[in-house]
Amino acid sequence: MKIFIDTANIDRIKEINDWGILDGVTTNPSLIAKEGKDLRTIVTEISKIVDGPISAEVMSMDAEGMVKEGLELSKIHPNINIKLPMCIESLKATKILSSKGIKVNMTLIFSAQQALLAAKAGASFVSPFVGRLDDIGIDGTQLLTEISTIFNNYGIQTEIIAASIRNPIHVSMAALAGCDIATIPYDVLKQMISHPKTTEGIEKFIADYNKSKGN
Ligand code: E4P
Repeated sequence: MKIFIDTANIDRIKEINDWGILDGVTTNPSLIAKEGKDLRTIVTEISKIVDGPISAEVMSMDAEGMVKEGLELSKIHPNINIKLPMCIESLKATKILSSKGIKVNMTLIFSAQQALLAAKAGASFVSPFVGRLDDIGIDGTQLLTEISTIFNNYGIQTEIIAASIRNPIHVSMAALAGCDIATIPYDVLKQMISHPKTTEGIEKFIADYNKSKGN
């Protein structure tokens, strides 16, 4: 499973990219707003750091505007893909953008039916939101399994990005469901590394080594 980071913060992207595990980046308007810089500036900076897909979301709510914004954003770098919010207008825009060779990430996916329609329209990626489903008392990880099963049943090539990840268990569940990608917040990436038994084991190895050296 590929690992993307879900942030627009350049320092955090650089830090995680240095780990050697980063395959791409997703941003959204809320993440961009936190950084105090505009979308174009941020995705341009990201494209100089990460060699992989970078999602940039449009703000238009009509197909014509989405296509116009998408075409402009896609000129920034070949790795930019266009994030569209799931709706009728974005299905139309997906058809047009994908026919021009521009990859679309259909976001705010909350049902398998929405994912199926996005794939039919030509989306390269669908982003089911796990955490936001959990928030309303619905098991978000179940949606990942449903979409993965449906796409496998029909050989659909659209990649599934497990999004709205809130904890390391969501990441394991995405991998078990067969998702192609998980887009993970910085704090969750950090949590994924730690295990108390690993920390304990390292401390014991160092203590034993120092004892044997008479330190
Ligand atoms: C997906 O690409 C979104 O940016 C993101 O995962 C949303 O997560 P949230 O529900 O934590 O805001």
